[in-house]
Amino acid sequence: MSFFDKEIDRRATNCEKWDKYKDTDIIPAWVADADFSAPLPVIKALQDRVEHGIFGYTSVDDATNQAVVDFIWRHHKWEIQKEWIVWVNGVVSSMNLVCKMFPNDTKVITTTPIYPHFIKAPKNSNLEVTKIPLREINNRWGIDFEEFRDKIDSTCKLFLLCNPHNPGGTVFSRDELEKLGEICLEHDILICSDEIHADLVINPRVKHIPIASLNKKLEKTTITLMAPSKTFNIAGLQSSFAIIPNKKLRASFQKELRGLGDGINLLAITATKAAYTKGDKWLDELKEYLSENLNLVENFVKSNENLKMLKCDATYLAWIDCKNIKVENPYEFFLKFGVGLSEGERFGDKNFIRLNFATTRKRLKKILTRMQNALDTL
Ligand SMILES: Cc1ncc(COP(=O)(O)O)c(C=O)c1O
Repeated sequence: MSFFDKEIDRRATNCEKWDKYKDTDIIPAWVADADFSAPLPVIKALQDRVEHGIFGYTSVDDATNQAVVDFIWRHHKWEIQKEWIVWVNGVVSSMNLVCKMFPNDTKVITTTPIYPHFIKAPKNSNLEVTKIPLREINNRWGIDFEEFRDKIDSTCKLFLLCNPHNPGGTVFSRDELEKLGEICLEHDILICSDEIHADLVINPRVKHIPIASLNKKLEKTTITLMAPSKTFNIAGLQSSFAIIPNKKLRASFQKELRGLGDGINLLAITATKAAYTKGDKWLDELKEYLSENLNLVENFVKSNENLKMLKCDATYLAWIDCKNIKVENPYEFFLKFGVGLSEGERFGDKNFIRLNFATTRKRLKKILTRMQNALDTL
């Protein structure tokens, strides 16, 4: 039995994912957190820290910053410096801070469908969003660069990039990132690259490349957002960081952050350090487990000719096209059969659902059986 096969009851643990359907038989498969226990070294580090008993004011220590630098080098071959790191309690918070750095008459570009905060964050700062639809290119969600260029005007000053992409599952290639980088440099557009899913590339033939690592020019014009939260399933501890090599940009970001909290909390620091220094083996095993789960999902989709899904190379989220099953609301349709998926509409397309497959294989099979039962009624 794999570590990830262990069924853990998450009810009555302040768990957003399971509480949404509490007192029902519905299996949640929506919000992006996993039903797996964090790596044992993380749990041990937290236990030891709690055992100490004093939880006073705290700050991120040098060893934790070094753990980030080493992890990013080991996994993504990007050499960053400790002083580039700015700790923030969440990637969404950072995205909002980045938007606040821009005056009202600037436009923000993003690719759709997209994780809802890519639209909400600009709106919170009264910035207009230029949406560039992802296109089906070679059986994956890709970018039509001509369309991208055509939609840019001189007021576009920020590109919110999601790589790997949620909900599309695309890991943008070096070639795609170079093209994106070139366009942004040409038009003086700052890139804010949300790479929260960077460590969850489950196709072993694909590599994540931080866009800022492509060259020194892009390093200076990119704010990269990363976190151990999805990777090690510790989202509730709220740990994340922005990597901002450009000193001036870092100062503007920190100006927006001023007065809103100083770094991350004590247990977040403890878990982050343990995860980044002792979590590699767990992460390798997780990715293997997720890739087998993805196989199950892909086979399920293939066996239903009215469902469609493009290649998912990363994340544990399957973006499934339900247009051809011709039901009014695919989310409601599957909900009636006991599966709580994410509604495609939240990401920008009501014909889709998003299935979180980061759960035990046994439970995933149950989810897929229920979805099949629903489809069999059509
Ligand atoms: C692309 C993306 N960015 C950000 C987040 C949330 O990050 P945080 O919890 O650190 O705010 C998620 C969570 O699903 C996500 O998928």
